Order: sequence, then structure tokens, then C-alpha cells
Amino acid sequence: MSLPSYLPFADGQWRLSMGLKSLNLQEWIEIDEHLAKELALKDKLLKNQYSDVFACLPESRLSQKEVLDLLLNHLVEHFPQHYRQQGTTIENICTGQVWDITHFEAVPLDLAGRLVQEDLLLMQPSPEGYILTAASLCFPSRWRLREKLGHPLAQIHASVPGYHDKLERPVDSFFDRLKVNHPAWRLNWSIVDSPELFLAQEKGDLDTTINAENAGEKLWIRVERQTLRRLEVSGDILFTIRTYVHPLQMLEENSAIAHNLAEAVKQIPLGMQIYKNLLPIREALLGYLEQVTAAHSMN
Ligand code: HEM
Repeated sequence: MSLPSYLPFADGQWRLSMGLKSLNLQEWIEIDEHLAKELALKDKLLKNQYSDVFACLPESRLSQKEVLDLLLNHLVEHFPQHYRQQGTTIENICTGQVWDITHFEAVPLDLAGRLVQEDLLLMQPSPEGYILTAASLCFPSRWRLREKLGHPLAQIHASVPGYHDKLERPVDSFFDRLKVNHPAWRLNWSIVDSPELFLAQEKGDLDTTINAENAGEKLWIRVERQTLRRLEVSGDILFTIRTYVHPLQMLEENSAIAHNLAEAVKQIPLGMQIYKNLLPIREALLGYLEQVTAAHSMN
């Protein structure tokens, strides 16, 4: 089995940093074999709990439209085998879905989010910093859209330990200076006790039966690939989040990475362990990773 492309802990390091890299716009959107399944899940969430997964403020409408136009052009150009645009319709060839673009005039970002596996969030400059003005967020990693809409970056990150001291200023300054032609990307990762993409449940709700023997089956590695780009016309910033979930037990085939995950976990400060809900599973996780590493060194 080949390893997934993004394993941000593979170098055995953990640090609270922006970790931004320059993004090649040809690689803005990622499509894989889970496209149909994940879009069906988005459909279901949008049907059953719309206000949990889509929200926007009126001032975001023009940049929502800008995002949809940008995305339609990108998809048709880079994935002609997946998407076909004819007149005012866009067809997703894989899923058989056909969308009439004119039906989404009030909420263009809603349609944009239904086309790709990424979640899409719009940030608009204001005197208090960049504000979240619209989001198609079907796969949140334990946070609620309604609590963040209309708030600036610093407030959105208020519960992240160390953000105020270490990240707030560099992130705000990065947002101020981001250029249309210099988009960026970064990775974020967590260990979670559920393979679900829509993770809205409260922190602290962990399965108490997790131990070093069963952690491989009961824990998952959740990696977010995030991109940031300035929109040329509106000047707003589009933030995309692509969420990948892998069973922890895949590391049984790569003990060096299992070892490095343990090393990275050991470097996470206590406050961050609590924030990331890692504390209750830390011992089980490290015990499991030690077993995986030891089993391989005996072979
Ligand atoms: C360079 C840009 C950014 C950096 C460096 C950054 C950094 C972080 C970090 C370190 C965390 C803690 C996550 C963890 O380790 O589990 C976090 C959480 C979060 N970030 Fe960001 N972030 C950035 C941009 C954004 C943007 C544009 C949004 C837009 C909404 C956002 C929304 C969030 C939310 C909602 C959380 C979870 C907060 C909570 O638990 O209440 N981030 N971010």
C-alpha cells in the first residue's frame, strides 16, 4: 500500500508555526477516488443541516461569485474528464450531477462547494483584521461555523493555545501582504477517534475503550491541506481546506513514520494536547506506536 501524500509529522517534529509554502496554482484543487462519495456526503449535509455547513453575510456575494467563476474555469481546464460546462449548467461527469448556475445567484459559494472535495471560506479585510464572511464548510474539524462567521482571524483562533503570542501577528501580516500571484498552502494534522469527515461533536467526547492494543483500529490521522489565495477583483482571500482521513493502523507498514509520529506527539505542549483532545488518548497512542516500532525492529 502506498503512503498518502501528506504526513506532516513524518519528520518527527512538532512546532506551532505558519508553515506556509508557495502554491502552484495548477495544484490548487485536488480530486481523488473519494470524489463521488464525499460530494454525496456534502449533498446530504446541505440537505439535512444547511445552516451548520453553509453560511454567508450579504457583503460576501460578489466575491462568492468571483470564487465560483474562478473554480468553474479551473475545473473545466484542469479536469475536463470530470467537469463539463454547457451554457448555464455545470455537469459533474463522475457523479452525474448537473447544476444550473443561475439557481445559485444568491449563494454562488454554495454551488462552488458542491463541486469539489475542498471546503471553501471567504475572508474579507476590515478595520479589525480579516473577517470570515462566507463558508461552505461540510467537513469541520470540531468547530462550529455559526460561532466564527463575522469574526476576525484573531477571534476565530481565540481558543488555540499559543496563537495570540506566536501566530497572530505573522498571520495578520501575511494576510495583508498576500499577492494575487503568490498563493500559499500549509498542512495541519490531528489524531481523532472517528473517521467521519463532518466532525462537529464536542471535544472531550472520546471513546474510553481506546488502549495501546486497539488504537490502530480506533484512531485516525486527520490531515488538512489548506490553501490561501487573494481574489483579484474583490481583494478578499479565499481559504480552502481539503481534509484527508487515514486509519492509524496504516503506519503498521511504515515503522519509521510510526516512530516519528510518536516523537512529534511527545513535543506537543500540554495546553495544545488538551486543545487537540490528545491528552485522553496520548498514552494509548504512544503505547501503540511503540509496539509498531518494536515489532519492526525485531523483524
Ligand atoms: C496562515 C493562516 C493560518 C494559520 C497559521 C492558522 C493556524 C491555526 C492553528 C495552529 C490552529 C490549531 C489547529 C490544530 O492544531 O488543531 C488553527 C485552528 C483553527 N483555524 Fe486557523 N490558521 C490559519 C488560517 C485560518 C483561516 C483563514 C481560518 C478561517 C476561518 C481559520 C480557522 C480556524 C479555525 C476555525 C480553527 C479551530 C478553532 C477552534 O478550535 O475554535 N484558520 N488555525
